[in-house]
Formats: sequence, C-alpha cells, structure tokens
Amino acid sequence: MFRKRMPALTFVLAAVVLAAGLVPAYRPALAQQASPVAPTRAQAQMVVREAYDKFRNETGGKNADYIPVLAQVDSKLFGVAVATTDAQLMAVGDTDYSFSIQSISKVYSQALAMEELGPDVFFQKIGSEPTGRAFNSVFAVADMPTHTGNPLVNAGAIATVSLISAKSADEKWSKILDFYSKAAGERLKLIDEVYKSEAATNTGNKALSMLLAKYDRIYGDPFESVDVYTKQCSVGVTVAQLARMGATLANNGKNPWTTEQLIKPDNVPYILSTMMMAGLYDGSGGWSWKVGLPAKSGVGGGIVAVVPGKGAIAVFGPPLDEAGNSVKAQKVIEYIARRLDFNIYSPRSVGLKASAVASSK
Ligand code: DON
Repeated sequence: MFRKRMPALTFVLAAVVLAAGLVPAYRPALAQQASPVAPTRAQAQMVVREAYDKFRNETGGKNADYIPVLAQVDSKLFGVAVATTDAQLMAVGDTDYSFSIQSISKVYSQALAMEELGPDVFFQKIGSEPTGRAFNSVFAVADMPTHTGNPLVNAGAIATVSLISAKSADEKWSKILDFYSKAAGERLKLIDEVYKSEAATNTGNKALSMLLAKYDRIYGDPFESVDVYTKQCSVGVTVAQLARMGATLANNGKNPWTTEQLIKPDNVPYILSTMMMAGLYDGSGGWSWKVGLPAKSGVGGGIVAVVPGKGAIAVFGPPLDEAGNSVKAQKVIEYIARRLDFNIYSPRSVGLKASAVASSK
C-alpha cells in the first residue's frame, strides 16, 4: 500500500519544490557549471568590463623604484582577469603584458614548501603572524619571537625558499619555476632584466637573510636563498596567468584547466589564511575590513585575490600605495567583490540573503 503511493507522493513533492522555486527546473549552461558556486560567464564578463571602465583613468600611486627597472614600466598599463573554478576566463585591457610577479610568488613557494613539509613543520619553521611593519622590515626580524614572521614578508619568504629541498640552487630554481608554471597551466619564464636589476640592488634582502642566520631561522645558505628568491620574484606573468594561478587555490589546489592536483586540498586553508592576514602587508587589516578576500600583492603592480570555491581576480596596474600595493588593483578587486558578493565574511557570499534572515523571526 505504502509502496504504491510513493511515486505519486514523490511527484507531488517535486512539483511543490519546483513551484516554490527552491530548485531551478532548468540550469542554463550546465556544461560550464562544473562548480556549483562559481559565477556565470555572463556575470563575470559584465563586472570585469564595468570595473575596467570605471577605474581605467585612476591615477593614484607611484611605480616602485627601489628596483630600478620597475620605475620604467608604463604606469598606464592596466589589465583585469577573472578565472573561475569551472575553467572560464574573462580578461580585459593589457592582457598580453608580462609583468614581474614579485611578492605574489611568495604564496606559491609557501605552497611548495608545505607540500614537502606539511603544515605543522612549516608553521614551526616560518610562522604566520602579522608583522605590522613594511614587507622588508629589519625591525620585524629583530622584534618578532619567530623572527621569520610569516612567509609573505621578505624575511619569511627567503627562509621559505631555504626550506625547499634541492641538491643545488639551480635545481631549486627549476623546481620553483615548474611549480608556478603548473599553477598557471602554462610555461612561465624569468624576466631577465628584472632579475638583473633586483640582483644588483638587493642589499636589504641580503641583510635580512644574514639577520635570520643570527637567529638560526634560515635553513640553507643565506645568500643562495636570496638569489633564488630574487629569481622567483622576477618570473613574468600576464593577468590571465595570474588569475589561473589564483583559481588553482580557489579550486582546492587543483588547476581547473589542466586538472592537475598541485597543492594538497588540506593545505589550501592555511595558505589562504596567511594571505588574508599578511597578503597586503601593513595594508592587510584595511583590506580584510573592506574586501574580505585572501589576496597577495607584488611591487610589480599585480594583485591576485582568491574567492574560495569560486575563482580568482587578478589585476595589474603598476602605481603603488605607501604599503607597496597596486592602487588600481585594490579598487578593481573591491568593486568586483562587492558586485558579485564575494566577501567571505558575508553570509551573502554563500547565498544567504538578508530577507531570508529577517523572515525567520
Ligand atoms: O624583495 C623584494 O623587495 C621584491 N622582490 C618583492 C617585494 C614585493 O613585491 C612586496 N609587495 N608588495
């Protein structure tokens, strides 16, 4: 008796659910929606264009000049890209220009070191505390109990490079470049003139590395570690490649294009938490307050923001603020994050509308 009535009951229930609009009867572009939470192509395309048009004439900030070659980069260059966890890419502006990844590289060297050491050993050897100081601060190294601070400031990043296993500096460098290339899904290259310019002027980083040696917080040759670190900062990326690198983190460490599982899924939350806490250095608190997305900046003018489960936003615009973060990139990412409800601290980011909360009273 009960069994016989089941199909009818199921049908009635399904009709009620559909009528209530709880389950869409038809999902357009199902093939593109491999991720249940990624924005649709139409949504992403629209906001990328809007943001590009809104901020293309923004003139705030100044190119980095402590690495001489960066001062010569055209300040007007501007590119925006969104990459989703279901392997869609939307990009506008100077999308073919290859700029130096600079400090954004630190995130991927952290990921590589964590693959080898696991989160506990990595945390013990480097730490993940905000320094509240500039990214190249000597005071932070002297003052902080860990000395290394976190893997995203220069000292912590140089120590992170020293942790990556290799028989020679060349082997370490090619391992790092391979790893970044796999995150981007394309072969990346060193920008030789950036490397030479930085290698000729990086006395501050050499000092940081020697200071770490005094505290036993560097785990290989201090100058060799600085040299490999300088190379990693000189890797060239386009906004599209950078967005794909971000999407790999957003997608549990699996590149959505190549489908290679590059980073252990369990390591991803640790990496993103470090980015939220220190990705924009002494600007990280304000960034988290306004935007609520883990992100990383580089003095080359790039910023990548990761939207867990959904994708990544990458922006390139060389002029920087006082903390060393691209002015244009911050504005564009804040705009896109608001338009698409990406702030991870907002219940709206997972679809909970304010009206739904009010109606439960
Ligand atoms: O070591 C340096 O100073 C540069 N290669 C990287 C610094 C950087 O990108 C800071 N970011 N905003």
